[in-house]
Amino acid sequence: MGLLASLTQFLNPKGLFVLSSVISLSVFNPFLGIFAIALTILISQARENYGILEAGGIPVVKPTLFLGSEPNLHKTVFHLADIERFKQFGGIWGSYIGRKPEVYVADPELIRLIFVKDFVHFADRKEPDFGSDVLNEILDYLPGQKWKLVRTHLSPLFTTAKLKQMSDVIADSASEFMDDLSAKCDEKGRLKIDSRKYLTAWLIDMFARTTLGIQLEDGKNPDNKFAEAFRAMMGENDEYNLLYSLSPSFPFLSRFAPAFNDEPSKLIESTFRQVIESRKQQTASGGPTNSKDFLDVLVNLWGRIDSEEFKAHGITENTIIAQAVNMFLGGYETQATVLCHLLFYLADNPEIQEKMHVELMSALKKKGPGGSGGVDHDLIQESEIPYITACIMESLRLAPPLIRPERICTKDWNHKGISIKKGTPVMIATWAANRNPEIYPDEPEAFKPERFLPENKAGLEPYAFTAFGFGPRNCIGMRFAYENLKLFTCNLVKSFKVEKRPDTQMKYKTGVMFLIGFNPLYFDLVKRK
Ligand code: HEM
Repeated sequence: MGLLASLTQFLNPKGLFVLSSVISLSVFNPFLGIFAIALTILISQARENYGILEAGGIPVVKPTLFLGSEPNLHKTVFHLADIERFKQFGGIWGSYIGRKPEVYVADPELIRLIFVKDFVHFADRKEPDFGSDVLNEILDYLPGQKWKLVRTHLSPLFTTAKLKQMSDVIADSASEFMDDLSAKCDEKGRLKIDSRKYLTAWLIDMFARTTLGIQLEDGKNPDNKFAEAFRAMMGENDEYNLLYSLSPSFPFLSRFAPAFNDEPSKLIESTFRQVIESRKQQTASGGPTNSKDFLDVLVNLWGRIDSEEFKAHGITENTIIAQAVNMFLGGYETQATVLCHLLFYLADNPEIQEKMHVELMSALKKKGPGGSGGVDHDLIQESEIPYITACIMESLRLAPPLIRPERICTKDWNHKGISIKKGTPVMIATWAANRNPEIYPDEPEAFKPERFLPENKAGLEPYAFTAFGFGPRNCIGMRFAYENLKLFTCNLVKSFKVEKRPDTQMKYKTGVMFLIGFNPLYFDLVKRK
């Protein structure tokens, strides 16, 4: 809203009082008067969208005078707050994040309509400014046709044949990781681990091997340089402060609270640039490559930069580097979170661990001796390990890492008395949707893998399992993620038991609206005899 519009607000009956107060202040002290006018304009701008959601028939979290519905963003654990809001409002509610109206859905039918059936009304995500020409180009946030083109080029990476091809590398890497942990155990066969730190290092190393075909220097060291750079870039150790809570109401403050840390992202970008460059040269000189791995796909895209099609959609070198960074970003943090939660649930349930171990040993026995200790692509099929698969699904249900997959309404939408205006972000409240008591009536908060056994899961509602999103913009890496999660879990269950320690505590970080964050989560790994 412009200055004029802000001033005209003073002329409504309530505003006249404000205006007369401002005039008296100006007479009394001109500086105070100017300050009061500036403040009044800022406040009226901060309130400019109030009422929009209510007019669309959406119940809202009552907004404050001028800081929106969430004046304490930096103190709120959003995925837990969503569970309470679902109890309070039901399957749809709205909130003003500062001045911006947002809609959250947890009702499976609304999720289906918005994310799948009416995709043309909700085709994009927000277009954030991460303050980096590369990060602004990651697939997640590309608009319309540009997104479609890049996604089409990346999709073949995740076919069954490609997964099988990558599976051996993942299996070897998981088995080596277990060997490394074993070697670090004390004489009683115990090892204390900071689970997130160990897992992120393993995942980053494994991604480097599978997607780029490179081995990281010092990759097994949880503190290696590359892993540290990713952690720093994602702000893993950052805490949010009041400035963060104020920035949605007063956007100019957001430059002081950036989403990504700039310096480490530069190191990562330049590493990817070098790796792509050297593969380009290798390919040009006819040298051997990793036969159509991710890097070859990127080199192929590079070759099209000068094409009319790429130019028309603004696809540049930065867009291509961004997709390499994106595979790591999209994949390592999410999977580390799932695995940390799985360890947490398993440590609480030793009897479930035993069932998993028995299932695995029997599947291995059936198969006979093989590579990677026998844990490979064929062994991890659901038909072979239904219970272990169900444990992973249950962990994904209870703790989906992405708090609120989002779409922007690109065309006004109406449905049974609800209307959503163009430009409004609509998000799935994943933690709430996955605990819907109508779909999971048997203690929705409890870890019960039986829900996902083949004989039971057919009765579940697909739109109440939201971990990977839905529709054309769902998670491109879902099948790759299942492959990793299963190979890792089988290797873990084969070699170790997980136990809680006196300092094991799941403490979620506040202020996080994208991927859930939590403080260091410690476990003891105990070698199986
Ligand atoms: C357990 C692991 C993972 C979880 C829970 C997860 C979850 C998600 C979710 C919820 C979305 C948004 C979907 C939507 O809006 O409908 C998403 C998008 C995406 N994910 Fe994943 N993800 C995981 C692993 C991966 C992996 C391994 C990769 C890459 C190798 C990846 C790459 C992406 C990309 C590129 C997008 C954006 C897709 C687009 O906009 O077209 N993810 N993921």
